[in-house]
Amino acid sequence: MAVRPIITNPEAPEVRGRAKRVSRIDDTIRAILDDMVDTMRDAPGVGLAAPQIGVPLRLIVVEYEKQLFHVVNPELSKMTGAETDEEGCLSVPNWQGPVTRATSLLVKGRDRAGREFRFTAEGWLARIFQHECDHLDGTLFVDRVTDRAAIHWVDADEAVEDAEGGKRRRKQASAATTPVNDP
Ligand code: NI
Repeated sequence: MAVRPIITNPEAPEVRGRAKRVSRIDDTIRAILDDMVDTMRDAPGVGLAAPQIGVPLRLIVVEYEKQLFHVVNPELSKMTGAETDEEGCLSVPNWQGPVTRATSLLVKGRDRAGREFRFTAEGWLARIFQHECDHLDGTLFVDRVTDRAAIHWVDADEAVEDAEGGKRRRKQASAATTPVNDP
């Protein structure tokens, strides 16, 4: 397991391309997922998508309120509600802006063992999943802000707190994490 460099140029082709579906979940894929978790925690952030470390595959990791998700080929459906809140991104460091997201959705995908799983996410967790799945299609929060003029620079400490929608992370950062979709 290793921390990999995060691409922090929002115009880099690696973060602007469409990631490919994973056809077989093997040890290579599991190693990438492990590196993604290490990289996300090191940042720190509450989510990371494979294109952000230069891997063009449909893989995301999310860690929020003691729940860790590894999701292969994630798909979102049953999106309902709408809420606008400040969002940031590890690939767009120091910038934040208001993004409107669904407040409830169904996440479908496969876990690191290759098993299908479904999970209903709500509130901030739903926002994180939308943000990470956007990365798989080369979309960044700056493309979704309600008002581009509202994108603003924040100082480094604040930006870290808001990375990948993670502004609420620090309150519970010291708590142990329980994987919810792992074997
Ligand atoms: Ni991001």
